[in-house]
Amino acid sequence: MIKKVRKAVFPAAGLGTRFLPATKASPKEMLPIVDKPMIQYAVEEAEACNIKEFIVITGKSKRAIEDHFDHAFELEHTLKRKGKEAILKEIQRLSKHQFAYIRQGAPLGLGHAILCSKAFVNDEPFAVILSDDIIDPDDNLLGEMIKISNKYQATVLALQRIPKSEIHRYGVIAGKEIDKNIYKISDMVEKPKASDAPSDLAIIGRYILTPDIFNILEKTLPGKGGEIQLTDALKTQLKRKPVYGYLFEGRRYDGGDKVGYLKATVELALKNPSLKDEFREYLESVMKRSNNG
Ligand code: G1P
Repeated sequence: MIKKVRKAVFPAAGLGTRFLPATKASPKEMLPIVDKPMIQYAVEEAEACNIKEFIVITGKSKRAIEDHFDHAFELEHTLKRKGKEAILKEIQRLSKHQFAYIRQGAPLGLGHAILCSKAFVNDEPFAVILSDDIIDPDDNLLGEMIKISNKYQATVLALQRIPKSEIHRYGVIAGKEIDKNIYKISDMVEKPKASDAPSDLAIIGRYILTPDIFNILEKTLPGKGGEIQLTDALKTQLKRKPVYGYLFEGRRYDGGDKVGYLKATVELALKNPSLKDEFREYLESVMKRSNNG
């Protein structure tokens, strides 16, 4: 019987060192892009796929995430009194789902973070969303991945072609295209040197995982950087059963990188109905100014 993807895991225990000092006292996942924190985009992506349970793996100073997705009685009361119905509705929508928070305890890597969700996910396929990989909300990447996972009853990873100069920042796969944009993966390696990378197909932060990954993670030894790597566990999984990749051709921004974060901000502001005209005009004036001098 096909089990539906009903749960999503959001690893959010990283220290966000690339964004210090902004991330000294508040989590990287709460950095706003236009008017929403990064993790909210990730949650909305899962919401759009009918996922109803959200499991956030947190670390130090992550209280802000919990508060963000909780009821805010005073705020809601004030918004109601002032007649600000639209924003009130949006605020209330954030707290309607079921959220679970698990502390990772020690920064032992992405694989370990996911292993922390074992008791909450149990025996069903689930999504993993890395919220600093920002996917354009108009693209249905996760939805496509769920379809592929249902069809093959297997793990599916999101892939993107990445230039050689950046490939060392990703997990990289080797595989064969078996259908349009669908790859059967034969090997993978975490953050290889450009010269050792098996292809230019990098894993980006969206996964549909089958639950046998937990038992594999339990036995996975620390790898790259001394951390328990999800990529290593997936490599073990593919020796036992097929694992697939879906080549995503839409827009993704690396919100963990300052320039990627700025790009996401500009692009999403240009899509925002109440900002786009004024903001476009402003950007054009900035370009003119820099061209003139
Ligand atoms: C993680 C994964 C890596 C993947 C990347 C996507 O790395 O370990 O395989 O390519 O996410 O963003 P991180 O960026 O957390 O170091």
